Amino acid sequence: MPDDKTRGRNLSQEELEKTNEYWFELDKQYRINHRFTYPQCWERGQGVSLYDVEGKRYLDFESGQVCVTAGHCHPAYTEALQRQAAKLVQTGSAYTDPTQVRLLKKLAEITPEPFQKSYLACSGSEANEAAMRLAKAYTGRFEVVSFPGNYHGMTGGSWSVTGFGGNYKQPFGPAMPGVIWLPTPFSYPVPGSPRFPERDPQVVDACIRFCERLLDEATSGKPAAFMLELIQSAAGVRMLPVAFVQAIRRMCDERGALLIMDEAQTGMGRLGSWWGFEHYGVKPDIIVASKTLGGGVPLSATITSAKIADEAVARGFKQSSSHTGDPLLCAVGLANIGIIERERLIDNVRQVGGHLRTSLERMAAGSPIVGEIRGRGFLLGVEIVRDKETGEPNHEAIAAITARAREHGLLTGWWPSYHLAANIIRLMPPYTLTRAEADEAVGILEEAVRHVGRLGAKRAA
Ligand SMILES: Cc1ncc(COP(=O)(O)O)c(C=O)c1O
Repeated sequence: MPDDKTRGRNLSQEELEKTNEYWFELDKQYRINHRFTYPQCWERGQGVSLYDVEGKRYLDFESGQVCVTAGHCHPAYTEALQRQAAKLVQTGSAYTDPTQVRLLKKLAEITPEPFQKSYLACSGSEANEAAMRLAKAYTGRFEVVSFPGNYHGMTGGSWSVTGFGGNYKQPFGPAMPGVIWLPTPFSYPVPGSPRFPERDPQVVDACIRFCERLLDEATSGKPAAFMLELIQSAAGVRMLPVAFVQAIRRMCDERGALLIMDEAQTGMGRLGSWWGFEHYGVKPDIIVASKTLGGGVPLSATITSAKIADEAVARGFKQSSSHTGDPLLCAVGLANIGIIERERLIDNVRQVGGHLRTSLERMAAGSPIVGEIRGRGFLLGVEIVRDKETGEPNHEAIAAITARAREHGLLTGWWPSYHLAANIIRLMPPYTLTRAEADEAVGILEEAVRHVGRLGAKRAA
């Protein structure tokens, strides 16, 4: 498949297949792809590193798609996958098997009381669908409250409660009826527009009261559920204030609604604790776990109490798929949790996460274009700005920084197409990251920031 770099070089087929360009060109011909594609074509992964077909190594600070926990191809993970693949891959959804039962029991053990029963699926979107159906069946109501900036997936229901506007909504017609949008303190209108309105207790309080008034004046006032993403990761690592989360819990209790926390990104250890809600002093009624649950294989869970599960089932709850509780996925998910426990990876997230954050803050202090460092554990955001005081986004600089870091072997999460996240570099490494790897990554990022900062200064002169 000749292109600019390979054309005229008379490469054999074997040699062609060792170039990123060859696969990139073929990919363009055969994949339905609506977004940009990075120029690397992956061959293999080991630990925190990914290697492209040309043999170049990159530090993967995206953890695949924020899924890989124990590092790429951890020997115990791979061994569990191979062992189960040779034994039993799939059964019908009307059956159970030891791998499924063991995983369900394990989920009950790593969640606090009263969480006990789970529905297993493959993706976060599906687990959110199940969560909303559980809440609807349990309460006998249909309205679901969500918030701008929440990301819950791309299936009908999960997309309907995803608070991303513009081209995320435009071509797909009406969303699920009954979705209620309430404001968060991030976007609450305040005179003078302070840089971080969510950090002002008066703004948080006013926003809570406005939410309650909207519920009473514009809805039944008794929704089935509230959807929360504690740290709005895809919307730029925005952290909901604790007081706001606690007020939502109170509203649920007062109105008989269920609180669904989508912990696809914040759960399973990424914040330095099994669950993100442990940092907020409240528990949800339903937890959605995905991504890091399978550590790479498609596995998700909707976890709730026996009471809610049993009553919802008695009132007609239904959710199924050809792939609920597949033995292969359950065995690998179980092995993944086993590695996290045995290797004390959540402690590592806390320790190396603290070190990473301190290094990034040092970098920010020394740079005119790095704004604040935010997030927790291994879900961190680095803000790239024009002006540290106003926080004005610097899109030109972030494009150049992430491209240079990539060139020098560091993959970061950057989502240019969504305006809230367009000036945030997300760092979400696997839980096995060492201090030395963290230092290597910060070194690459720091060099890229300095390089781009110098270019900007020259242009301004
Ligand atoms: C918080 C959150 N919820 C749900 C989803 C959807 O998960 P999936 O892409 O597996 O359907 C994502 C995916 O990025 C997510 O970040």
